[in-house]
Amino acid sequence: MIACCLFDLDGVIVDTARYHYLAWASLARDLGFEFTPAAGEATKGVSRMASLDIVLRAGGMNERFSPAEKERLAAEKNARYLAYVSAMTPAEVLPGAVAFLRDVRAHGVLTVLGSASKNAGTILDRCELRPLFDAVVDGTGVSRPKPDPEVFSKGAEAVGVRPENCVVFEDAAAGIEAAARAGMRSVGVGGSPLLAGATMQLNGFEGFTFEMLCKEID
Ligand code: BG6
Ligand code: MG
Repeated sequence: MIACCLFDLDGVIVDTARYHYLAWASLARDLGFEFTPAAGEATKGVSRMASLDIVLRAGGMNERFSPAEKERLAAEKNARYLAYVSAMTPAEVLPGAVAFLRDVRAHGVLTVLGSASKNAGTILDRCELRPLFDAVVDGTGVSRPKPDPEVFSKGAEAVGVRPENCVVFEDAAAGIEAAARAGMRSVGVGGSPLLAGATMQLNGFEGFTFEMLCKEID
């Protein structure tokens, strides 16, 4: 039985994974190196400071900055990221995502957002998505980043559903691992080969229904 669907935000509901990458790549360019899209994959689902370490390692300069300098670099990246986010509209919600969320809710199944991002609230408001979620757990409410299961465990607790009755939708390998560690089934969204550990794979939400989900994994 599926009683709750938990959704990652960046790269699952909205295409902000692209904005995260562009902001990191421009910071890297200022530091004197190219941060490639392939290297950017490893920052998906990972907290802001852990992402910064991944970026600096790619440029061979992880040892070069003090903790205070790293805070400044992360703040600079976030300012660049927010420049993209502040221009977002509901048109940027990924195709089929709203229809699928509505379909899930129409079946009496609870919907929860489980995101590592501290900017999740801003994005939900800009894209008018808040009414589609029964609970929101984001980077402001968790202390242990994915692949730790905290964000999804807290999300399920918030709506009182047991892990075995939850399904997580994720575009990041760290998120698929977090779901498994929380005792939940998962759907790998976006078709990356890094999501092979998910219970099932989905290219995108267009044309996908709750009934299809149940047939596939319930
Ligand atoms: C995740 C993204 O959702 O949030 C990561 O996949 C990002 O790429 C993380 O680093 C933290 O986001 P923010 O908005 O708090 O910097
Ligand atoms: Mg994501």
